[in-house]
Amino acid sequence: MAIRKVARLGHPVLRQKTRDLSGDEIRSPEIQRLIQDLRDTQAEYGGIGIAAPQVHESVRIAIIEFGGENGRYPDMGSQPLTVFINAKVSVLDSQEQTYWEGCLSVPGLRGKVSRPHQIRVDYLDETGAARSLVAEGFLATVFQHELDHLDGVLFVDRVETRPGATGLSFTEEYQRFHLAEGQDAGQD
Ligand code: NI
Repeated sequence: MAIRKVARLGHPVLRQKTRDLSGDEIRSPEIQRLIQDLRDTQAEYGGIGIAAPQVHESVRIAIIEFGGENGRYPDMGSQPLTVFINAKVSVLDSQEQTYWEGCLSVPGLRGKVSRPHQIRVDYLDETGAARSLVAEGFLATVFQHELDHLDGVLFVDRVETRPGATGLSFTEEYQRFHLAEGQDAGQD
């Protein structure tokens, strides 16, 4: 078990496009250890998803795990541990939905982000097997946030920034003025 240091906004590793992994690499002790470290780090920081660049590894791996026992997001359902490698996203329903997002790499800030409502993710699991899943609603936003990390994109790039918009907020002001708007996508 190892908790890694999380890269924060401004670190170049967060802006690099990650590289795909081969099946042999996925099954290697190094990558299996990285997957475990992602789980440990996410749990330590209280996240619901984390991507490899956030722990300074520029490879195409991310995990999502939330709900269940910790119950931090009771209205958002739950998602058992999902490890997705070399993932590609396809939009199934381009109608957009809006959530307030947070990120372990952008501590202290929340941003209002609109993303497509329903997506399909094609990926390899931690054994290298090909898998596919369909996500909608909150889960679709969480997947798209994580997949953005693998392309060097952060949620702050997608916040509505027109003059007069309340797209970006410190966590304290978010809780004070915007939480009642609902739809909190948590820290990922
Ligand atoms: Ni994030």
